[in-house]
Amino acid sequence: MPKKTGNVGRGRGTPPKKASKPSNRDSSYPDYDAQWRPEDAIVEEGPDVLQPSKLAYRDDARGLYLYHGDCLEVMDHLLQKHPQGVFDLIFADPPYFLSNGGITCHAGKMVKVDKGAWDKSRGPELNHEFNTEWLRRCQALLKPNGTLWVSGTHHVIFSVGYAMQQLGMKMLNQVTWQKPNPPPNLACRYFTHSTETILWAAKNEKSRHCFNYADMKRANGDKQMKDVWTFTAPKPDEKRLGKHPTQKPVALLERIVLSSTAPGDLVLDPFMGSGTTALVCSLLARTCVGIERDSVYLDLTLRRLDSATFNLTVRINVFVGTQNDLELASDRIDPIPAMSTEGAPKTDCIFHESKFVFLSCAQVSQASVVHTTVDVTLQEAWAHAPDGKKRQTTHIVRCETEIHRLKSS
Ligand SMILES: C[S@@+](CC[C@H](N)C(=O)[O-])C[C@H]1O[C@@H](n2cnc3c(N)ncnc32)[C@H](O)[C@@H]1O
Repeated sequence: MPKKTGNVGRGRGTPPKKASKPSNRDSSYPDYDAQWRPEDAIVEEGPDVLQPSKLAYRDDARGLYLYHGDCLEVMDHLLQKHPQGVFDLIFADPPYFLSNGGITCHAGKMVKVDKGAWDKSRGPELNHEFNTEWLRRCQALLKPNGTLWVSGTHHVIFSVGYAMQQLGMKMLNQVTWQKPNPPPNLACRYFTHSTETILWAAKNEKSRHCFNYADMKRANGDKQMKDVWTFTAPKPDEKRLGKHPTQKPVALLERIVLSSTAPGDLVLDPFMGSGTTALVCSLLARTCVGIERDSVYLDLTLRRLDSATFNLTVRINVFVGTQNDLELASDRIDPIPAMSTEGAPKTDCIFHESKFVFLSCAQVSQASVVHTTVDVTLQEAWAHAPDGKKRQTTHIVRCETEIHRLKSS
């Protein structure tokens, strides 16, 4: 299966992806080193090094750089190269410190909460010390206008919020992620836990952070988006390549990345787990650096990224005709000639649609849409159009979309 995908998955008009470059937003800070280089995160063996880091996956086409290592050490190393910050956005889903012998309900059974040794609490002081240490590094690695998102439950989030304040970060939002179908509370002595908190903060009070307000409003039916987001836990399809005990839903990361970055921005996930952030960045044309200490989860990330290499081809054929074409010689507008597939891999067509857009267009500058329809042929589309719309129509645009998947053999 090919690893590299070229431009597949990028939005229309998205600029070709490059390694991060200083954006205009940061022009008031001219002297920081914003050039990302994959080798900057490689920690060599040394007397004080706990775990040398390795570049486990590199895909320059998709802008993905994944490291097997300890995030504190890797971030220290990055800071030597980029003392004034290099990331536009950091998403951190740290250990929640909740694997301490409690019980929960999983697949209808009572089980102990045990996400792994990495998730055990070492007591409030040591937990806070750890949180402060990784947050300090994240803050330093943000570009002047970069922002940090951190998820957590009550086991960790108050310590994270307090450390953010101690470090002088600027709190932007406290988002509540609400899960519509949480597991029941088996003890029946508490309300059912159905939310997680996600704190959004900027590097410091001077930051002029990126917020794609209009996009969020549009995504919310043209109403201002609130700070309570409803997403289900990852669906079975998101776990079909293997399980991580605290995997985040793709939709949640999409919301975060879309709300606070631009295409081509550089994103860091220091606790990458199953690679949800990297996957979303690859789909949304953001460059992503991920760090994970456990090779089992890193392998899962690689499987997810490989499967996200789209084996799909999208062809869009557009034909513009005048109404006269329809009346005088309908075969000129219908059918559209097939695209050349010479040299292309064998594919199955899994979707085909012909959309007809009827335009009133005496002059191009006055063009307006009078009617649209999805039909098989132009003749059918014309026959189904209301008479009043037909009278206004001067031009018809036929947009034909086909989605093909690669044949497996
Ligand atoms: C809460 S999970 C992240 C889950 C992830 N957001 C996802 O969607 O799959 C935290 C991850 O951080 C890793 N981890 C814990 N301490 C680490 C450290 N010091 N450096 C790097 N990774 C670490 C754990 O192995 C675990 O996979």
